[in-house]
Amino acid sequence: MKNDEAITPESVYLNRRKFIKTGVTALAAAPLALSAPNLLHAAESEDKPTDYEEITSYCNFYELGSRKKDPAKNAHWLKTEPWSVVVDGEVNKPGTVPLETLLKPHTPQDRIYRMRCVETWSMVIPWQGIPLADILKRFEPTEKARYVSFETLLDPDTLKGQERPILEWPYREGLRLDEAMHPLTLIATGLYGKPLPNQNGAPLRLVVPWKYGFKSIKSIVRITLTTEQPYTSWNHHGPNEYGFYANVNPDVDHPRWSQSKERRIGEFFKRDTLMFNGYGEAVAHLYKGMDLKRYF
Ligand code: MTE
Repeated sequence: MKNDEAITPESVYLNRRKFIKTGVTALAAAPLALSAPNLLHAAESEDKPTDYEEITSYCNFYELGSRKKDPAKNAHWLKTEPWSVVVDGEVNKPGTVPLETLLKPHTPQDRIYRMRCVETWSMVIPWQGIPLADILKRFEPTEKARYVSFETLLDPDTLKGQERPILEWPYREGLRLDEAMHPLTLIATGLYGKPLPNQNGAPLRLVVPWKYGFKSIKSIVRITLTTEQPYTSWNHHGPNEYGFYANVNPDVDHPRWSQSKERRIGEFFKRDTLMFNGYGEAVAHLYKGMDLKRYF
């Protein structure tokens, strides 16, 4: 997609935020406890978006280097045109689709999400994106589909971080199908009303706000629906440190550090980390009856 269509100009952006806030206040009175708009309201009222500069310069994208400033510096390594995405596996209508075709029938939405990294920093990011469910439905998942697996572009000639064996490349992530279909789960194509910068995962990335940041895989080229729990990069790299579920949970420590507090980028004092990153009202039912210490 020529991203211009999807962009919210920055001037309109602040007004839009006001609109979301008002519209959502009315909705909050209705019995829609699990709806995405209510969660937006929560984020709107409590959280100030992190500065654009911070979001786009303090990044994790190992394909573009392993220090926080590397991805912005090396952003030009990633070539995003042309771009296509393979959607295959347990779907009735598999295909390789150009980015324009994948995104075109959908209208990007504004979503302000808290994002919590496993390294204990957090941000509040105004995304533009499309619910992943809307995209997946068009490919018609079969009855056997239970998980969704995602892959980042593999191109060690240009993505020089892939020359180093930090992870097994390409970067891969996965969700259970019900997590993938949840209305909060987004395919992001922009932030702050601008096209997604390369360092933040252009041209399309996953955003799952109740999970640690590593689940939010960047620069996706393949989406495969599967019957079995898929391979995921960090879980494979350190199964005791990075679980498949990776739900934000202040009560389950990383083996090398506590997860009970976080540092919001741009703030001085640490704040308490919230269960499911504060999205529990919308997502806790997905994990009913599960031992979250075991399935961390
Ligand atoms: N996706 C790919 N392909 N490669 C990565 O190294 N890092 C993950 C995730 N997605 C990563 C990735 C991690 S650890 C985090 S915290 C988020 O991206 C960071 O997203 P941001 O840099 O846009 O804040």
